[in-house]
Amino acid sequence: MTAAILRSTAIAAILAVFADQTTAAAVALKCRSCPSRFAWENDQLTDAAIANSDASLFGFGSDVRAADLNVRADTPDLPACKAFPGDASWPSQSDWNLFNTTLDGALIQTVPLAASCYNNWPQHDAAACQDVISHWNDPHFHVNDPTSAMFPLYQGRTCMPTDDPSSSNCTLGGYAAYSVAVTKVSQIQLALNFARNTNVRLVVKNTGHDFGDKSIGAGALSVWTHNLKDIEFLADYKCKGFNGPAFRLGSGVETEDLYRAAEQNNVTVVGGECRTVGIAGGYIAGGGHSPLSSLVGMGADQVLSMEVVLPNGKFVTANKDSNPDLYWALRGGGGSTYGVVTSVTVRAYPQIPVTTMTFMFTTGADVTADTFFAGLGAYMSHFDAFTAAGAYGYFLVVGTGPGEFLFNMMPMWGNNMTKPQFVSLVTPFLDDLAGLGISLTPVITEYPSMYSAYTGTFPPENVGPTDSHAASRLFPKENFESAKRDETLSAVRHAIEGGGVLIGYNIRSAPNPSVDQANSVNPAWRKATGFFILAATWAPDATDDKIQQASETLTNDWMAKWRAVSPGAGSYMSEGDINEPDFQQSFYGEYYPRLYAMKQQYDPTGLFYAPTAVGSEDWYVTDQVPWIPTQNGRLCRKA
Ligand SMILES: Cc1cc2nc3c(=O)[nH]c(=O)nc-3n(C[C@H](O)[C@H](O)[C@H](O)COP(=O)(O)OP(=O)(O)OC[C@H]3O[C@@H](n4cnc5c(N)ncnc54)[C@H](O)[C@@H]3O)c2cc1C
Ligand SMILES: *[C@@H]1O[C@H](CO)[C@@H](O)[C@H](O)[C@H]1NC(C)=O
Ligand SMILES: *[C@@H]1O[C@H](CO)[C@@H](O)[C@H](O)[C@H]1NC(C)=O
Ligand SMILES: *[C@@H]1O[C@H](CO)[C@@H](O)[C@H](O)[C@H]1NC(C)=O
Ligand SMILES: *[C@@H]1O[C@H](CO)[C@@H](O)[C@H](O)[C@H]1NC(C)=O
Repeated sequence: MTAAILRSTAIAAILAVFADQTTAAAVALKCRSCPSRFAWENDQLTDAAIANSDASLFGFGSDVRAADLNVRADTPDLPACKAFPGDASWPSQSDWNLFNTTLDGALIQTVPLAASCYNNWPQHDAAACQDVISHWNDPHFHVNDPTSAMFPLYQGRTCMPTDDPSSSNCTLGGYAAYSVAVTKVSQIQLALNFARNTNVRLVVKNTGHDFGDKSIGAGALSVWTHNLKDIEFLADYKCKGFNGPAFRLGSGVETEDLYRAAEQNNVTVVGGECRTVGIAGGYIAGGGHSPLSSLVGMGADQVLSMEVVLPNGKFVTANKDSNPDLYWALRGGGGSTYGVVTSVTVRAYPQIPVTTMTFMFTTGADVTADTFFAGLGAYMSHFDAFTAAGAYGYFLVVGTGPGEFLFNMMPMWGNNMTKPQFVSLVTPFLDDLAGLGISLTPVITEYPSMYSAYTGTFPPENVGPTDSHAASRLFPKENFESAKRDETLSAVRHAIEGGGVLIGYNIRSAPNPSVDQANSVNPAWRKATGFFILAATWAPDATDDKIQQASETLTNDWMAKWRAVSPGAGSYMSEGDINEPDFQQSFYGEYYPRLYAMKQQYDPTGLFYAPTAVGSEDWYVTDQVPWIPTQNGRLCRKA
């Protein structure tokens, strides 16, 4: 009791400090005429509609007030665990049917994506199963399914594609029990109210790209945002001090759709490197890095306004004027935490030329392992100069045999640079490699626009693996300066020699006074010039023991050395280790206390949960195997 009061007093104090800081800016930028909603966002749940139905199932939660701060901590009778299928407290079939009717039939009962491969499902069908097997690694296949996510390890691998239909039974595992294929705001409000009032676990699935499968959960009701596909180009958007081109995007819009729309309208937008990542969902919520970040900042920095359904079911706008605290938290504080975002308005930039470079080098007759890593060190020595010029690099470093290594630049990317400008930037680096005796044939191409550069260079992605596990580190620029570079390089080399696969980015979050960078993006992004993803891999048929060992080595040996050479830095939550130690510091940095306080304020009953999300430390999932956490269990509150 005393602890609870202390905690809520501390939370109130933290919130008060930040409320003071945001008021002045809000008044100065008052603007009432900004267009901000799609037609389907005007279809909202009303008190009258609830009064005509069943308020105990569909009624709103309490309003957000400072008084609510005490609700969670001081309410003794919040159930210990979420309701689970089969429990007496699980909604009855007639409740689900009523819910479905109220949703205009948008409720989907989960059929696992690979059910056709198993005898124990009525969907069993050998031809359909072959289709599943052949498309399993294609991201679109998972994006288009209401419940599948791209990292089956954390689902529990309970329904993997197989051509032996009697090998085992396919079960739901960590997949949600039901999803709602939402096409309007009222359905999202109904889903949130229903889940809160019935104590059913809630998840939000957009594309299923998150590295820790943050979009799934056993026994959950899933809000599936995939069909919210509207893209509206606002050629001359005037709002809150901004005057220029912008896009309004439904939260189901994928990267490639947005890039294509930008190309058609002769502008450039910030998005990720993978074609199917959802822009307005986890990408912006987690911060969002982009080939353009070294020039104009993070994805979250580009947001002018957003629309969101809160945990209490109410629909609000978040921008500099309205709910500035939510505007701050929804841009960096992580997905599935403060509500369901339905649309965002993001700024666009004039078209820019982009020059790209690809090349590869390996160990071999003239290149020893020491020389190979000296080549990687030479690249690191240019990280600051490259990002300061607005350039970005995306590269792979991997062992190919005992003492043999490969480096693949895929690509380096010169934003707003003609070919001659780019060549003069990279010549000192190419000279360094030549000086080490590393010969290579760079392919340098100038493109007239971001979209043409993107389609011309980025390889399509493969997903759905169960033979790897990734972690990541945001290295500040000091790590690549002379004093610390050798130490950093030797920590990196240790991991690669041990079998780790490095997917590296030479990237910074550029300072950009033309956007609002006062948001909750992990502060470690603001200092980094290197973002390194490291994966441990194992044989496809490895036992759990082997997977556990590999994951433990990744987190407690390889990554421990990376953390030791970059104390106080962080990791990127959207491409992070589900086992990350002290994830609060790594993924959120010094913003964690404020984000946590806001979580208690806006979601006092704990409607939203996702692994490593803000406040997730107050929960656990039952039936876990060490080092291979899954969403295949009951979600319960820690005592
Ligand atoms: C192959 C691959 C390439 C990638 N490339 C990049 C890259 O270039 N840059 C980059 O920054 N990241 C990249 N990522 C990471 C990506 O940004 C994250 O996985 C991101 O979380 C995906 O968001 P999503 O909405 O598409 O996916 P989901 O996995 O569906 O959602 C991610 C999280 O956000 C929540 N969420 C989704 N929609 C909403 C919503 N509308 N409201 C509230 N919460 C929501 C979900 O519940 C979940 O917790 C990549 C990932 C993969 C697998
Ligand atoms: C919801 O209703 C629609 C339309 O009647 C129906 O097709 C669908 O199967 C129902 N969903 C569930 C889970 O019963
Ligand atoms: C599948 O489940 C059925 C019914 O519980 C059981 O009889 C059968 O042995 C199971 N099959 C396998 C391969 O586990
Ligand atoms: C596209 O934008 C660029 C940069 O703003 C401009 O120079 C060019 O004229 C535009 N082209 C068209 C067809 O509008
Ligand atoms: C691109 O460079 C031009 C000048 O070369 C500059 O005016 C413009 O602002 C730059 N664009 C961006 C998005 O930085």
